[in-house]
Amino acid sequence: MTGEPVRSCASPRRPRIVLGVAGGIAAYKAVEVLRQLTETGHDVRVVPTDAALRFVGEPTWAALSGHPVSTEVWTDAAQVAHVRLGREADLVLVVPATADLLARAATGRCDDLLTATLLTARCPVVFAPAMHTEMWEHPATRANVETLRARGAVVIDPAVGRLTGADSGAGRLPEPTEIASVARAVLTRNGLAPDLAGRTVVISAGGTREHLDPVRFLGNSSSGRQGYALARAALARGAQVVVVAANVALAQVAGARTVRVVSTAQLRAAVHAEAPAAAVVVMAAAVADFRPVNRASHKIKKSDGDPEPVALVRNPDVLTELVAARRPGQVLVGFAAETGAPGVDLLDLGREKLARKGADLLVVNQVGDGLGFEVEDNAAVVLGSDGTETVIERTSKDLLAHRVLDLVVSRLPPLDGTVIAVADGVRR
Ligand code: CTP
Repeated sequence: MTGEPVRSCASPRRPRIVLGVAGGIAAYKAVEVLRQLTETGHDVRVVPTDAALRFVGEPTWAALSGHPVSTEVWTDAAQVAHVRLGREADLVLVVPATADLLARAATGRCDDLLTATLLTARCPVVFAPAMHTEMWEHPATRANVETLRARGAVVIDPAVGRLTGADSGAGRLPEPTEIASVARAVLTRNGLAPDLAGRTVVISAGGTREHLDPVRFLGNSSSGRQGYALARAALARGAQVVVVAANVALAQVAGARTVRVVSTAQLRAAVHAEAPAAAVVVMAAAVADFRPVNRASHKIKKSDGDPEPVALVRNPDVLTELVAARRPGQVLVGFAAETGAPGVDLLDLGREKLARKGADLLVVNQVGDGLGFEVEDNAAVVLGSDGTETVIERTSKDLLAHRVLDLVVSRLPPLDGTVIAVADGVRR
């Protein structure tokens, strides 16, 4: 039996971290660790102890991680969470690790979800302790730390400095940036490189403007926020990023190369110049479909007399052109911001648009009435050319960006571009 050549489907994925939070005042700093790890492309599940929830509540952990949160083994029992979380993790990171948590971990207790997870984990474990100096220096804690280190866990030495109340000394939680970088280093050491390393990602963002005269234009209210969130997310996942920014008023994305454009013609030229080197092109920009036939070289004055109706001519469709010029393995993503209309199903519009444009993915989102443009969060359904439909519930534009990139990464061929032939139904 012969078959079509297929590409290896061994696709990289986002590293999975379980962030354990024990009950200490420094739990509030774990919020910042969580934020830094999710922003750098990690899939983080938070497992607080009951005591930790007295310091920082469940909604904070759930909202920032994008995952439900549970503390005890009885929640979600059918899924056997206490075994699954530990087994599936690439890293368990405990911030802060209190004296009590270190003691329970060292003696193999499993009386809550966090300690059960520590007992089932077969991945690296990092503890970031925080406690009063006397507790840190107590022989019992010293012995527990020795035990954990002897078993291969990384126990970061606490910083010296101001503690809760008036005292200061050893026992202060290290800075969140330092903890996040230890976590990343441990993951990298274990071969979990970011999943877009070695790839170039081109992202168009904002909205094009078609000028009638030097001061007036036809435009749209796309802020560029979602495109910039995609750029940050792709950077965090190791990509080289080029942003083609159409009239975006936001601060430039550090680490990305930004090409500024105004009109559709300029955006088209910039995207086509960058696309041949790109593994992924995301057309997040709202591109004007029409431009005025004539552009006045001076500001149109009332004294020029009553104006003629503005005659418009159609702009080329950049995404369709990209599809026609696509190189093998390149993943092309479109965005469809729709307001919907009575009796019209948004997803029907999206499916029709995806088929018309020929992209791999189309991110369909509803705009208007406080949704989509100019707001901080977003919701979408991502349609795949393979018939898949992925619902992304309302979340931050950063997390939505990562969800979209998850789908992109799963469609990328391996970096070396190896094509594996299937001759007899067995993939080699
Ligand atoms: N797009 C493009 N070139 C254009 C218009 C749109 O590349 N001239 C891209 C957008 O960047 C987006 C996708 O096509 O990724 C869908 O844009 P949208 O405006 O929703 O689609 P249109 O084809 O213009 O359809 P509609 O009639 O709904 O405006």
